[in-house]
Amino acid sequence: MSVQQDIRRLTAPDIRARKGGEPIVCLTSYHAHTARLVDRYCDVILVGDSLGMVMHGFETTVPVTLDMMILQGHAVMRGSKRALVVVDMPFGSYEQSKEQAFASCARVLKETQCGAIKLEGGRRMAETIAFLVERGVPVMAHVGLTPQSINTLGSFRAQGRDEIDWEPIEADALAVAKAGAFAVVIEAVAEPLGRRITEQIPIPTIGIGASPACDGQVLVLEDMLGLSPRVPKFVKRYGDLGPGIEAAIASYAKEVRARTFPGSEHVYPMRPKPRK
Ligand code: KIV
Repeated sequence: MSVQQDIRRLTAPDIRARKGGEPIVCLTSYHAHTARLVDRYCDVILVGDSLGMVMHGFETTVPVTLDMMILQGHAVMRGSKRALVVVDMPFGSYEQSKEQAFASCARVLKETQCGAIKLEGGRRMAETIAFLVERGVPVMAHVGLTPQSINTLGSFRAQGRDEIDWEPIEADALAVAKAGAFAVVIEAVAEPLGRRITEQIPIPTIGIGASPACDGQVLVLEDMLGLSPRVPKFVKRYGDLGPGIEAAIASYAKEVRARTFPGSEHVYPMRPKPRK
């Protein structure tokens, strides 16, 4: 028998049903404490493989492993109650075969208990997406700029800025929708293309550097909080936490050096001796 939870988590079908309706709000999170905050305002929390760059300082997302994603996915599940948690599949964990993809996704779903996975790729991943969905794995797809392909793309440039380049990106979005993905991230494409894909496909589009017409938006949390040193054009900084954090660290260091921290209120006095 299952324990009744007070708050019901959103599911992939709930998000799928939001096509054309109230915009879907999504942010990334990699930790229990940020997940707790994001969960209050967002419908979807993405445990993105951007954690490789944001948390670990890698140049790209290519070095991220399945174990890294599972560890942080588990932390985000513990910190959240309501949002659908989607865990990114890292480079090398799903592209080789449908079977490899299912084995990796099954590990993620079992070990984190998240509600869905995300993987990059359009037409080339359509068969795998259908295979996964038929076997109980809810898939969020990712088209347009796919950062895991950085070594073949050569740069993180926006896609589809000339109309002649639209056709393959539209075909990718249509293919993942047809294969059964419940939503698709569209990253860094020309605005009219993001709008056009949103009008054309029957599943929600989640834009990041795409279009305000998308069915939802996603940003990397640290980017929008002003904690990332370099951000793409599509990031709006909603906060500037860097200077506040630095000021706090500087005050702490100064007080430790001056022996003014810890103060009497931060140390444990002896217990009073019992009276005889
Ligand atoms: O890894 C990530 O954070 C992502 C978003 C940028 C969509 O894939």
